Amino acid sequence: MPRKLAAGNWKMNGLRANLVELAKLEEKHGDADVDILICPPTTLISACEDTPFDIGGQDCYAADSGAHTGDVSAEMLADAGASYVITGHSERRTDHGETSADVAAKSRAAYDAGLIAVICIGETLEEREGGTTLAVIDAQLKGSVPDSADAENTVIAYEPVWAIGTGKVPTLTQIGEVHAHIRKRLTDRFSDGTEMRILYGGSVKGSNASDIFSVADVDGALVGGASLKADDFSPIITALENS
Ligand code: 13P
Repeated sequence: MPRKLAAGNWKMNGLRANLVELAKLEEKHGDADVDILICPPTTLISACEDTPFDIGGQDCYAADSGAHTGDVSAEMLADAGASYVITGHSERRTDHGETSADVAAKSRAAYDAGLIAVICIGETLEEREGGTTLAVIDAQLKGSVPDSADAENTVIAYEPVWAIGTGKVPTLTQIGEVHAHIRKRLTDRFSDGTEMRILYGGSVKGSNASDIFSVADVDGALVGGASLKADDFSPIITALENS
């Protein structure tokens, strides 16, 4: 069984004053028996060095260094204390026009820097309603996940775009169908595909987490809004521990 992972993506939220939430989370889950990852904004990564949780970036540039004003390399994230980085989040794909080829290049850069890539995939509402969800997932997996991926360096996050920040969640059947499909593709392609972690993301809350974690091949969650406050993230971690 893959090791369970509760991951929080703070997106563009968080100042140093908000780090008190990590201290609160540590009181309850400092010795959790699931992995806990926090992806704060880049400016806070080095300030997280004392937390017991894994820390990740939210994006990285594909090149090691150079004339790329405003960008951050995977090596810089690792140097600041990160051990993970999210690649291909739908907000990057939409807001910054990132393609699956870009996401694969960023994920390879993550591996080169010794980071675990949390590679995000997921369909839009239009794609879901048009019946092309699994085809979209296939294309994104093929294009975004490098051949050098393995269960140690890669986590897949299935995040339906229409479920992100909307309070809308797919049915458990829909989640199960996509996760089983992803698992099949991973096991077909990678020798350790059964061990690769597949997270669900999109409007996960304390109130729906247990149900979502009961679905086969859901190895944890990538949580946005509900990861910002310890009181909101804590029940999700507890649900994962009990799943
Ligand atoms: P929400 O949990 O706020 O829906 O965000 C999900 C997400 O995009 C995590 O990466």
